Amino acid sequence: MSGTSFLLEKPMELLDRLEAGKRLTEQEFEELLAGWEANGLGTGSLGIPQWQAEFSEALRAKADRVRRREYGNAVYIRGLIECSNYCKNDCYYCGIRRSNRNAQRYRLTEKEILSCCQEGYELGFRTFVLQGGEDGYFTDERVTELARMIKSRWPECALTLSIGEKSREAYEAYFQAGVDRYLLRHETADGCHYRHLHPAEMSMENRMRCLWDLKEIGFQTGAGMMVGAPGQTISCLAKDLVFLQELRPEMVGIGPFLPHHDTPFAGEMAGSVELTLDLLAIVRLMLPKVLLPATTALGTAKADGRERGMRCGANVVMPNLSPSSVRSKYSLYDNKLASGSEAAEGLQMLKESMAAAGFQVVVDRGDCKGFGTGHGQ
Ligand code: 5AD
Repeated sequence: MSGTSFLLEKPMELLDRLEAGKRLTEQEFEELLAGWEANGLGTGSLGIPQWQAEFSEALRAKADRVRRREYGNAVYIRGLIECSNYCKNDCYYCGIRRSNRNAQRYRLTEKEILSCCQEGYELGFRTFVLQGGEDGYFTDERVTELARMIKSRWPECALTLSIGEKSREAYEAYFQAGVDRYLLRHETADGCHYRHLHPAEMSMENRMRCLWDLKEIGFQTGAGMMVGAPGQTISCLAKDLVFLQELRPEMVGIGPFLPHHDTPFAGEMAGSVELTLDLLAIVRLMLPKVLLPATTALGTAKADGRERGMRCGANVVMPNLSPSSVRSKYSLYDNKLASGSEAAEGLQMLKESMAAAGFQVVVDRGDCKGFGTGHGQ
């Protein structure tokens, strides 16, 4: 590598190993991110060291090549239906936590959910994602009945659920009812950090148990974390990467932490877009066939965040298909985008902005091309 500063030699070698399908240790992942440490994970005023900036550029270019090799310039779209903002949990970062008395709670009816799917289908969506807080109204019976209805009306569409931690039996019932995919971000793989983000009644062990169950049952499974969440360190992120390397999820959701004014983290700083882009790129190299969304949080944090995410290895966007009357109520963090090209009806705008960035929105279920088997095999 002539012309490469010697400080870059080791991290570049680590990237080559990652790209060759080799596993890295927690310490090696820390080395890939070390330049971000001195600058408060990219949020400080110091700037990052020159070598890290050069390294990020090389890393992102590699990730772009790998995504191009695996998926070309396709952007897979998922219609996100936010079916309820009732939640029994009290995560400190989240705007729909149960203690937030200011949240205006809503729950979509079965009929409303089906009409969102119909609208989405007509717009060209072939994946529906039902996402919601952990709402007791949506019993396993109601969820499976809804899933059966959706799968029988739109058999060629993929159905994804993102409704939180459930028993293995519940997940099995959802799978039997035809649900294809399940998103459940692990949020953090560091026990101490987990307790900083969640009240004592929740546990990282149960979250991980859920993810392993989902994988074993046969769902295309999504995990992921926020970047720059309060209390996060490079060591937490390295543990996240080791966990993802073990689990080998088909999908990974990564976005910057953004504060919500009615949560205990109201006064905390937002996570760094640049560090988020590096993490997307690392995940693309580690799991070449992964479905990797350029998240709403990334688009909210920076106007061109999603397009930049695509250039760093992402290949999915999830426009909002919820009825417009409830969109502002599904407020996980402040200023969450839900209109323009973030909205399903703004699909034309999304197509244009993606085309301008060199990508093509496709009408396709967009399944993961090749399954991870878990346990790092
Ligand atoms: N900032 C960014 N992302 C958030 N999420 C929840 N609250 C926030 C926040 N304040 C993410 C969590 C959750 C997903 C649905 O949204 O990672 O899993």
